[in-house]
Formats: sequence, C-alpha cells, structure tokens
Amino acid sequence: MALPFAVLISGRGSNMLALEQATRDGRIGGRIAAVISDRADAAGLEAARERRLPTEVVEPARGEGRDAYGRRLAAAVSASGAGLVALAGFMRILDRGFVRAYEGRLLNIHPSLLPAFRGLHTHRRVLESREAYHGCTVHFVVEELDAGPEVIQGRLAVRPGEDEPALSARVQRLEHIIYPRAVGWFAAGRLACRDGRAWIDGQPAGPAIVEEDA
Ligand code: GRF
Repeated sequence: MALPFAVLISGRGSNMLALEQATRDGRIGGRIAAVISDRADAAGLEAARERRLPTEVVEPARGEGRDAYGRRLAAAVSASGAGLVALAGFMRILDRGFVRAYEGRLLNIHPSLLPAFRGLHTHRRVLESREAYHGCTVHFVVEELDAGPEVIQGRLAVRPGEDEPALSARVQRLEHIIYPRAVGWFAAGRLACRDGRAWIDGQPAGPAIVEEDA
C-alpha cells in the first residue's frame, strides 16, 4: 500500500519536487498527502499546485510560541493522514511536542556531511575551512538541531577554486538523489529508527554513502 507522507517546505521546494517525481516513477511506494509551508509566498507551493498536490499554509501567528505553532502544524499533518513527515528546506525549529509525536517518522535533509557543519550557511563555511569533501545528509529528526541518526549521505570532493553557488548546485543534485532513496526505503518498510540509530534492512545505517560520480 502506498505510504502517504507530508513534505514541509519554506522555499523553492526542489527536494519536494524530487520526491514527487520519485512517487510517480515508482522509486517511492508512497504518495504526497500534503505539502505544508510556513510561508504563503514559498515558491515551492506554486510548483506543488501545478502538480496538483494538496497544499496547505500554516503560518505562525503574531506572538505565537513555538509549542502552539507546533500543535497547529501537527494537526495539519495529522489531518493529511501522513505516516511520515519529510522536512525539505523547512526553516523553522520544531518544538518538542511535534518531534515526539512524529519520532521515528520524521526525516530531514541537511546540506553537509553531518555531524560536520550543523546549522546554516554550510557551503560557505565548508569553503572557508578548506574542506576536501562536502555533501548532504538525510537524518531522522530529534530535538537537538541537525543531530538525529544519519540514514544516507551524498558526498563530493570540493573542486579547487569552486565558489559557493557552484558547490551548492552540486550538493543539491546529490540531495535530489539521496532524499527519494531514503523515503523510498521508509515507504518499503526497509528503514527504521531504533535505539538512537537508523537501520536499513535490519543493519545499522552507517550512514549509506552515495558518491557524486557513482
Ligand atoms: C536544501 O539545501 C536542504 O538541504 C536544506 O534546505 C534546502 C532546501 O532546498 N535543508 P529546496 O527548497 O528543496 O530547493
């Protein structure tokens, strides 16, 4: 049976579109039950509507606390019937209640080789510190930011003289490969989060690695 899942976005939504494409060509045995944004002007919402996906805007109200917002967000996800939540450029820190409610069913994609470079502006920071390798990580979400069990990483070698836009574009291409793969595993019952780690086909995830040139 196709797993209904929700995709939470704040911006362009290119990962959401990669996930949608994967549901259509059978790489994910699931369907997008809702695309939910915290911003009415997120470009990804329009792209989702064009593909006839159900969309919803859950904007924080003026002065609304993180917990209250999280309850409304959880209500929207729950109403969609989603059995998995995929954060895809959702630029809001989730409250403890939301994270607990979806524990083990909440994935995020982060543009670095976690645990290195948590937080923002990862491409710039990677270039500044002259790292040899960079990439992206799909991980289960826990309360601590960018800290949950890692499922799969896309990895590339930073090129000499490469600038931030070029590096970011290469990382995004890898994101569009690894996120559908992780969601596909989850939908097929092959991926789980247990004892503080990710498991693929009953083995500790490691995480799985996809090299750029593979
Ligand atoms: C991606 O780089 C992702 O790693 C980060 O936010 C960005 C979202 O991009 N969490 P998009 O909206 O999916 O294009």
